[in-house]
Order: sequence, then structure tokens, then C-alpha cells
Amino acid sequence: MDSFAAWMGGVQARVESALERQLPSANIAPMRLHAAMRYAVLGGGKRVRPLLVFAAGESGAPGAPIDATRLDIAACALECIHAYSLVHDDMPCMDDDVLRRGKPTVHVEYDEATALLVGDSLQSLAFRLLADHRLAADATIQLEMVNILAHASGSRGMAGGQAIDLDSVGKPLSLPELEMMHVHKTGALIRAAVALGARCAGARDKEQLQHLEHYAKCVGLAFQVVDDILDCEAPTATLGKTAGKDAAQGKPTYVSVVGLARAKEMAHELQADAVRALGKLPGNTSRLRELAEFVVLRRF
Ligand code: IPE
Ligand code: IPE
Ligand code: MG
Ligand code: MG
Ligand code: MG
Repeated sequence: MDSFAAWMGGVQARVESALERQLPSANIAPMRLHAAMRYAVLGGGKRVRPLLVFAAGESGAPGAPIDATRLDIAACALECIHAYSLVHDDMPCMDDDVLRRGKPTVHVEYDEATALLVGDSLQSLAFRLLADHRLAADATIQLEMVNILAHASGSRGMAGGQAIDLDSVGKPLSLPELEMMHVHKTGALIRAAVALGARCAGARDKEQLQHLEHYAKCVGLAFQVVDDILDCEAPTATLGKTAGKDAAQGKPTYVSVVGLARAKEMAHELQADAVRALGKLPGNTSRLRELAEFVVLRRF
């Protein structure tokens, strides 16, 4: 088996070329919008959600051959929604950020209206991908996949979490309130990545899907806890986005609510909880285990 680093590099390269193919060419009208969509998505990011799609896909069906082209499509759909969420998150009406993935944010490089439309168009593209490609033998499962992504992206998922985030500026949130915000704004798409990956690989067993769901819930929450920690500890140059913005903008975070040391402990506790859930699964879960570790130990 490849090392985790080699596997991760392989999936990242594979997903980059799939995204390259699926995004409209910048030579097709409206060219400025298409160029901006490509600018937002290509050539950056850790691709954690695609990695989770592949890791869950590889764990989902022990012994069965995996159709990686299905995983490519699910991974692209997740990354389109994620990139859209970042473009909108950075806009002046939200976090007002000028740097993302080491480059000027989309509204800075283009303009605000284009950034808005990039988000809209990436969201539509994500759902078109799920509608255009066969991802499950059973059409009911494929519809369930569309439903999972819609739920995870909308007002009871990522967009809802972003609404809570904006509403919480300057407010002293309790820990359960903060967890609720993080589970939605970041956790929802991470849970969807695992759920879609497993379904692409034909996973059907309810109990196994529940263990995977628990793993994903822990990893999703850990991901945003670590994002909060990095915002206050890592330098802008490593992060590729402006460091120290949460405190500057009065955002409640795990660091502001429980302190840096406890936030770090909690990230490790969530990782352990995620890995425990994997112990109850029959397939090869080593990539999922390694990803849980990566999410917590990452430096950017
Ligand atoms: C940043 O996500 C925004 C959050 C949801 C915390 P990532 O840290 O996955 O950003 P990229 O995709 O690697 O740039
Ligand atoms: C953003 O959280 C979550 C989403 C984009 C849905 P943050 O606002 O903390 O993300 P960064 O730190 O700007 O990447
Ligand atoms: Mg934000
Ligand atoms: Mg932000
Ligand atoms: Mg952040």
C-alpha cells in the first residue's frame, strides 16, 4: 500500500484534472465568469473533501471493485460547493478577506458581482454533475445522494452555519452553541463527502453507514476546531489566508470560548472518537484513519 502522502498526492492530482475537465473552459462565453470559476477552484486547496470521498469509497465495499470515475464526480461536486462557500465567505458582506489559497480572493481579483455569480454557478455545476453521471446502480440511491448534498449545502447545513456565524459576531456563545455552528458551517459538507463516497462504492448497510456518519461528524467538527486554532497560531504565509482574523472580527471560536490548550485537546479527542467509530467497520479504513490524523495535525 502507498504511503499516506503518496496516496494523498495521487488523489489530489486526479481530482485536479477532473475539475479541470468539468469546469467550463475560459474560452466559452461568458468568459469572465468562467475564468473566475476556474480561478476559484483550480490550483489550490488541500482537497480534504475529495480525499474523504475517495477514502470513504475505498472503505465502503470490501472486496468489490471501485469505480473511481464515480468518486471523481462526487469529489468534484463537493469541491465545487466548498469553493463556492469560500468565495462567498470571503466577500465584504461576510468575512471581508483579501487572501485565499495564497492568491487575492475572487472579489478582489475580479469584482463582487462576479464573486457572487461564481458561487451561484459552482453550486449549480455541483448538482449538474450529480445529475449527469451514473453514480449508483440504483437510481433511488443516486437521488438520495443529490438529497444529501442539497441538505448539506443549504439552510440546514453549510449556508445555515454561515448564517449562525454572521449572527454570532461579538456574542459570547456557549460551547453547545459554538458546536452547533461548526457542525453546520463546516461539518455538513464533510459529512456529505463521506456519505457520497461510501454510496458511490455501493455501501448499503445501515449500521455501517451510521458508524461512517459518526466518524464524519467528529472529523468535521475537528476540522473547524483546528481551523480556529490555526487562525490564531499559524502565519499568513503558511495559511494562504489572512491569519488572526477571527479575533480581529470578534468571531466566537473554539479558541475564544475554551482557550487554545483545551481546543487542542478537544481536536485530539474528536480524532480519537472518529477512529473508534472506524473500528466498527469491516472494510479497509486506514485512509480514513490517516485523514482524521491529517485534519488534526495539519499546519495549514
Ligand atoms: C477552509 O476550508 C474553510 C473551512 C471550512 C474551515 P479548507 O481548509 O478545506 O480550505 P482549502 O480548500 O484547503 O483551501
Ligand atoms: C468558513 O469558516 C466556513 C465556510 C466557508 C463554510 P471560516 O470563515 O473560518 O473559513 P476561513 O478561515 O475563512 O477559511
Ligand atoms: Mg467565515
Ligand atoms: Mg472566513
Ligand atoms: Mg477560519
